[in-house]
Amino acid sequence: MTLLITGGAGFIGSALVRAALSRGRDVVTVDALTYAGTRDNLTDLPGRGTHTFCHVDIRDAAALDRVFDRHRPTAVVHLAAESHVDRSIDGPLSFVDTNVAGTATLLQAARGYWEAAGRPDGFRFVHVSTDEVFGTLGTEGLFDEDTPYAPSSPYSASKAASDHLVRAWHRTYGLPVLITNCSNNYGPRQHPEKLIPVTILAALEERPIPVYGRGENVRDWLFVEDHVDALLAVLECGRVGRTYAVGGDNEWRNVDLVRHLCALLDARRPRPGGGTYGDLVTFVTDRPGHDERYGIDAARIRSELGWRPATPMDAGLAATVDWYLDHRDWCRRRMDAREAAQ
Ligand SMILES: NC(=O)c1ccc[n+]([C@@H]2O[C@H](COP(=O)([O-])OP(=O)(O)OC[C@H]3O[C@@H](n4cnc5c(N)ncnc54)[C@H](O)[C@@H]3O)[C@@H](O)[C@H]2O)c1
Repeated sequence: MTLLITGGAGFIGSALVRAALSRGRDVVTVDALTYAGTRDNLTDLPGRGTHTFCHVDIRDAAALDRVFDRHRPTAVVHLAAESHVDRSIDGPLSFVDTNVAGTATLLQAARGYWEAAGRPDGFRFVHVSTDEVFGTLGTEGLFDEDTPYAPSSPYSASKAASDHLVRAWHRTYGLPVLITNCSNNYGPRQHPEKLIPVTILAALEERPIPVYGRGENVRDWLFVEDHVDALLAVLECGRVGRTYAVGGDNEWRNVDLVRHLCALLDARRPRPGGGTYGDLVTFVTDRPGHDERYGIDAARIRSELGWRPATPMDAGLAATVDWYLDHRDWCRRRMDAREAAQ
């Protein structure tokens, strides 16, 4: 099996590349290496499978056609996207460009390749989406596969649009697609602009740790390797045309998560001047349209595919904090790349 993974130089994509290679798959990574992606994430790869990197933008139809012709993938897992909500508020059009137009261009390339190959039964196109497409929950209830779409941010609206396009390519052209809508991921190699690394790095640099509003927004956290296991389960055993909601059954208020990270850092790297990193927590003006609560009912993927999260939050957070403590240079390079891309 040769997997074509878009966005394979990013946070979740690079974890998927590792897991697929470990399972003996051959992998072709397609990535434009925006500020968010780096080949640093694809060094020391494990396993017996081969890995080929293609520096290609998913909006480039001709380049995608060449990748499909040359590498003849048996499946596509599509993760390439602009992924940061705050950036989508500041500059929404690049999100529409990549997440909507880019996904349509990729679907066309996959369809052309699949049709020219005689519509092989085993071909799969897995689209990796987010629970943010469903908007916000109140204090009760959970998102599942039947929750109506109600995205709040330009990011989530662009992901919602991409989900609709993927379903349309299935219903109209028969392309064998599957969609996943996953909750918040955490783990090594997440770009330092996201909540958990922001907290760790601000603390270590003795800067204020910014928390939106009163920190009461709730997110359902899942360790990245558990998400990747879910994606491989969907790819290998999921029913074509179906959607799978993926979550950790692990809801945290932002402020509680940030304070917990501070306590982990207190134990590992005590503040030079004494006191706790928690004293650096600073409430800042809330994000416009900030969804209150996300939570996933993952009953379908659990019962149909036997998937469940394997990493307890304590173990996952400890591994994550330790990784960031050991990779300060990686973080600096990622922030420099982001600065250069502004
Ligand atoms: N991070 C989460 O918590 C989460 C949760 C659910 C779903 N998702 C989805 O998973 C996917 C990956 O998320 P992530 O957190 O790893 O993001 P990321 O920002 O770390 O990685 C995105 C990757 O896509 C690449 N990319 C961006 N634009 C591209 C383009 N036009 N052509 C080719 N490559 C391009 C980047 O270079 C980068 O390597 C996204 O589709 C996101 O919507 C993320």
